[in-house]
Amino acid sequence: MAVQRTFSIIKPDATRRNITGKIIDRLESAGLRVVAQKRVHLTKEQAEGFYAVHKERPFFGELVSFMISGPVVLQVLEGEDAVAKNREVMGATNPKDAAPGTIRADFAESIEANSVHGSDAPETAAEEIKFFFKDEEIVG
Ligand code: PPS
Repeated sequence: MAVQRTFSIIKPDATRRNITGKIIDRLESAGLRVVAQKRVHLTKEQAEGFYAVHKERPFFGELVSFMISGPVVLQVLEGEDAVAKNREVMGATNPKDAAPGTIRADFAESIEANSVHGSDAPETAAEEIKFFFKDEEIVG
């Protein structure tokens, strides 16, 4: 399996509880390397644009409000099979369904406040990385 890049967000519930380091430790321990990272407070327009694929879903407004409720940490992660590996380390979207030892099982508060986002496919990862990072901000 080739080296890949994926996009990750440490969400406002995690920055609020000051557990970004604990989450980054999980990612690094799984063999993922943080090759770009910035802490920002998303605007409503950015959050709506990023989650545009979900705009018809009933929870869209709540998801956007949550994502702008505090700072987030945007990351590009690199490693072997990075997209699937990150999804594995994150665990299922709903922490009630997340496997023991995953980030969401151990840290998420709810399906909304679920601590992390990770790209679901290499194509999505490329788009999501481009949405937030310039090429020169990624240092492998
Ligand atoms: S996934 O991973 O895309 O298959 O998950 P999905 O269930 O489609 O959810 C997409 C994102 O929406 C968030 N979500 C919610 N937010 C608020 N309220 C409710 N009920 C809710 N259900 C799902 C979920 O955390 C996913 O966020 P991201 O950032 O994509 O992981």
